[in-house]
Amino acid sequence: MSAPSHSTTQQRTYRVAVIAGDGTGPEVVREGQKVLEAAAKAEGFTLAWEPHDFSGARYLRTNELVSDKDIEALRATAAIYLGAVGHPDVPPGILEHGVLLRLRFALDQYINLRPVKLYPGVWTPLKDKTPEHIDFVVVRENTEGLYAGVGGFLRKGTPDEVALQTSVNSRKGVERCVRYAFELTRARNKRKKLTFCGKTNVLTYAHDLWQRVFQEVAKEYPDVQTDYAHVDATCMWMVKNPEWFDVIVTDNMFGDIITDLGAIIQGGMGIAAGGNVNPQGVSMFEPIGGSAPKYTGKNVINPLAAICAGGMLLEHLGERHAAARVEQAVMRLTPQLKSLAAGQMGYSTTEVGDLVARYVAEWKAT
Ligand code: IPM
Ligand code: MN
Repeated sequence: MSAPSHSTTQQRTYRVAVIAGDGTGPEVVREGQKVLEAAAKAEGFTLAWEPHDFSGARYLRTNELVSDKDIEALRATAAIYLGAVGHPDVPPGILEHGVLLRLRFALDQYINLRPVKLYPGVWTPLKDKTPEHIDFVVVRENTEGLYAGVGGFLRKGTPDEVALQTSVNSRKGVERCVRYAFELTRARNKRKKLTFCGKTNVLTYAHDLWQRVFQEVAKEYPDVQTDYAHVDATCMWMVKNPEWFDVIVTDNMFGDIITDLGAIIQGGMGIAAGGNVNPQGVSMFEPIGGSAPKYTGKNVINPLAAICAGGMLLEHLGERHAAARVEQAVMRLTPQLKSLAAGQMGYSTTEVGDLVARYVAEWKAT
């Protein structure tokens, strides 16, 4: 959490980098900024937006991705607000590695925080499940595992070729992630249950280390109940009994997979938000849905995921009241939407942004 800088008028001011990106990214970020501005106004602080053009479109124009100088500029900000990076004309892998993973790694955003919460009136594919059943958070390790980029080819392109992709699990990396998850479980103060999701029966080195670290750190949190579930079983329980989960901690690859499952049970990409968090550095918040090129410029995409990511950003800055305003406003709107899907909301992108901003301004703490 970063300390606010104080201007001469005593008003708290935060510099926030904005990476609007490609496709519908700019449209959803614009609505998010509108809502965050309303929250800042109501709670008496200022957001100083700082646009950065890292996108597929720029890459196609200039061949540039994210430079060391760009990283230094981002380090001077309080947080990063990301729309979506992805372009149909850029081959897969380039933007993922050159922008998203580059930022996560260079800024050491070692936690990927993914709340899975079903809001009122939102349709879930899970039969008989309501908001009281779906409210948990996935803490995904975000800088190691299979994403570390360790591996290589032998005899590439020949009939005898071999490809290796190694999962990297350092004690320090695992421990800081597990510790974050325990702290979060305690701070949430809900069911106070932390589930380690792994595959200890097969990944007998990597997840042996995870398991030992998990059990060691658990001793410092006697108030937190611990649990374990294999990743395959976790998928099953997320569908059958999502109410069993409070906080789940897992490695990078498993976290990537189970959070898409999480997104769909909370209503889909229209609402799913996430944070790439470095508790000691600069964190980045994003809707997890991607650039949705076919909806670009049509004013039909759902901006709620970006708005929720903005709420997480405010929470991260320590502006808890502003964050609560955003969440309450979203929860006031969701029962009025016909659907969360693009083009089927019953409202346009900008209308959703306008309504949430209005509810943010109107909200009274009870
Ligand atoms: C996510 C995405 C990324 C990931 C891709 C785009 C590299 O799927 O944020 O979950 O795999 O982490
Ligand atoms: Mn993913």
